Amino acid sequence: MSARPKPVQTRRGMTVRDVDAVVDIEARAYSFPWSRGNFIDSLAAGYGAEVLHVMEAGQVTLAGYFVAMPGVDELHLLNITVAPDWQGLGLGWGLLQAVELMGRQRGLPRLFLEVRQSNHRARALYRRFGFSEVGQRRGYYPAPAGREDAVVMRLDCEGGAR
Ligand SMILES: CC(C)(COP(=O)(O)OP(=O)(O)OC[C@H]1O[C@@H](n2cnc3c(N)ncnc32)[C@H](O)[C@@H]1OP(=O)(O)O)[C@@H](O)C(=O)NCCC(=O)NCCS
Repeated sequence: MSARPKPVQTRRGMTVRDVDAVVDIEARAYSFPWSRGNFIDSLAAGYGAEVLHVMEAGQVTLAGYFVAMPGVDELHLLNITVAPDWQGLGLGWGLLQAVELMGRQRGLPRLFLEVRQSNHRARALYRRFGFSEVGQRRGYYPAPAGREDAVVMRLDCEGGAR
């Protein structure tokens, strides 16, 4: 964790009006970002989506977000991102707590996600949060040279919140 203090933060549901700022972060955070259409379609489909704002020096900035698709008895985390200049301050952990809360509130206490095999930082964060690696999807992601495998991770949200 960085020595920079954790900023004051607020969360709320993502709306179409947030999408420009979200897409801007997406382009900075990923080599293969989601498109504007991916976010618009997710909102239109009623997926769970929230944005996180931080306040520093009187300025409010959109610093992170997640999108999660409800299934029969699980919530599938499709996208979780913290803006590069706000990473390492515990905001990703807070977003995971928000995903877990959404799952509980919707009666979907099992979470699934896919993560690039090479994304060791995210995998370590998910493991520390309580996720287990339960499978692999071969060639799931585009990559600079061909395709990259996904690791499938699962969390059963039983007991108290993290
Ligand atoms: C992955 C990502 C969402 C993590 O967000 P973040 O805000 O940087 O992560 P955090 O600051 O919450 O966590 C960072 C560290 O603090 C730890 N941590 C934070 N809060 C904690 C808490 N309350 N208790 C215990 N550990 C905590 C994390 O485990 C992690 O450990 P590290 O210091 O060894 O790296 C972010 O880096 C990101 O958006 N990356 C680019 C996009 C991406 O890869 N998304 C995931 C795709 S599957």
